[in-house]
Amino acid sequence: MSDFEPKIVAYCCNFCAFAAADLAGAMRIQYPPNVRIILLPCTGKVDAIVLMKAFEDGADGVFVAGCIEGECHFMEGNLRAKKRVAYVKRLLEEIGTNPQRVEMFNLSSAMGGRFAEIVEEMTQIVKEIGPVCEDRQKEPQKQ
Ligand code: FES
Repeated sequence: MSDFEPKIVAYCCNFCAFAAADLAGAMRIQYPPNVRIILLPCTGKVDAIVLMKAFEDGADGVFVAGCIEGECHFMEGNLRAKKRVAYVKRLLEEIGTNPQRVEMFNLSSAMGGRFAEIVEEMTQIVKEIGPVCEDRQKEPQKQ
C-alpha cells in the first residue's frame, strides 16, 4: 500500500463551506489533514486559472465548496463556479490528467459532518489516482 498523502486545496465560500468546516472543528469531527482551506467571499470568485494554478503549485486535488444551489448570497456565484469546475475537468482531461482531481460540492453552514465527508471522499479518490506529477507517465505512449 502506498504511503502517498495527497495535497488537497479547498476553495470554500464564507457563508457555507467555510462555516461548515468551522462547525466540523467545533464538533470535533475528524477528517484527513490533507486539506488546505482557502476562504472566498463566494465561489463565484474562483475561475479556471485559479483552479489550474493550484495544480501547478503542487495540489493533487482541488475542490470548490459553495452554497446550496439557489441559496448563493451573490445570486449565481455557485452556478458560475459549477460551470468553471466542469470546464477545468475538460482541461485536465485534455492535458492527460484525471478529471476526478477537481470537484464542486454544495452544502450549508450547518453541514459540518458533510464537510468532513467531502474531505474524506476527495482524499480517498486522489489517493487512488496517485500524485498529479505521475499522470503524464501513465498515459500510453503514442507512436
Ligand atoms: Fe456561497 Fe455564493 S455566497 S457560493
